[in-house]
Amino acid sequence: HRELLPFTDDAPVVTLFEGNTPLYDAPRSAEYGGLAALRLKHQGSNPTASFKDTGMTAAVTQAKLLGAETVVCASTGNTAASLAAYAARAGMQCAILLPHGQVSAAKLAQSMDYGAAICELDGNFDDCMRLVQELASEPSIYVANSINPFRIEGQKTVAFEILEQLDWRVPDHVVVPGGNLGNSSALGKGFAEMKALGLIDRLPKISVIQAQGAAPLVHAFAKDSKAVPDAIEFVDHPNTLATAIKIGSPVSWKKALRAVLETGGQVLSVTETELADARAVIGRDGIGCEPASAATLAGIKKLVAAGKIEKDETVVAVLTGHVLKDPDYVSNYHRG
Ligand code: F0G
Repeated sequence: HRELLPFTDDAPVVTLFEGNTPLYDAPRSAEYGGLAALRLKHQGSNPTASFKDTGMTAAVTQAKLLGAETVVCASTGNTAASLAAYAARAGMQCAILLPHGQVSAAKLAQSMDYGAAICELDGNFDDCMRLVQELASEPSIYVANSINPFRIEGQKTVAFEILEQLDWRVPDHVVVPGGNLGNSSALGKGFAEMKALGLIDRLPKISVIQAQGAAPLVHAFAKDSKAVPDAIEFVDHPNTLATAIKIGSPVSWKKALRAVLETGGQVLSVTETELADARAVIGRDGIGCEPASAATLAGIKKLVAAGKIEKDETVVAVLTGHVLKDPDYVSNYHRG
């Protein structure tokens, strides 16, 4: 572990026993996507019910080592809930910046319960993110968004878990939803490190799926799917009911695009209907995920139809959040 994570054995690790999440077989989802088999890595089984926890244990441990008093983040809800919980464990103050009216009630309730100071901005996530980057110059404040490299160190462990759960047989494809694009970056780093250590001899193709109304990386990839550009065009007014990924100016776009290009993956978008239907299909496998997570299955269906994924290849979709994160979305769907 010492070689893979940036802490010594005696570091005061702030933990809620995150990680070790299940890798499910999902036959109905596989059939829907046009695959013989599909595995779902459910990061919503973490302590605060999203993938953010594996990164937050590392970021808050580092904040503690640095003697930070206050941790802050901008969030569409999940990063905030996770940071609030780990800050509470560490006995630190936590302040979160959220776009007013655009965060699910369940996520907001978690953050309140863990004792965070909540600032709601009249604006979107990207506005919150800009403000947090300004706050970062304050010495007593520690920023826990995924521009924080320790977050990425923690989040990359999902790659190790997937490999371990597949008995170190490298999957052909790993598919993730994309918002601020920290998760896809982390996934790429995790697999690249396993290859550098000689534990695997090839990389899975990493594909990123965005919601059609919030798809800046898709536009960039469509323009040039060979090289990472110096800049990409952001989306000024991102829009999707999958509020977790309602992001127009993702901070980690460059790292994420590099992970996709280096592994030969794809970047594509799915419509609101495609995403909503895919989410309900995952439910029929007995696995509950929040809307953003289902961009994966909707994307897989399109990638199979386009011949970018073969029917018999090994595919892992990363589910990023639990179904109870956004129950209104779910009941609205089923009530027609
Ligand atoms: N899925 C869920 C459930 C999320 O909460 C997020 C991001 C993503 C996917 C996208 O991951 O940003 O690493 O590309 N949520 C952040 C938040 C932005 O504030 O909770 P990403």
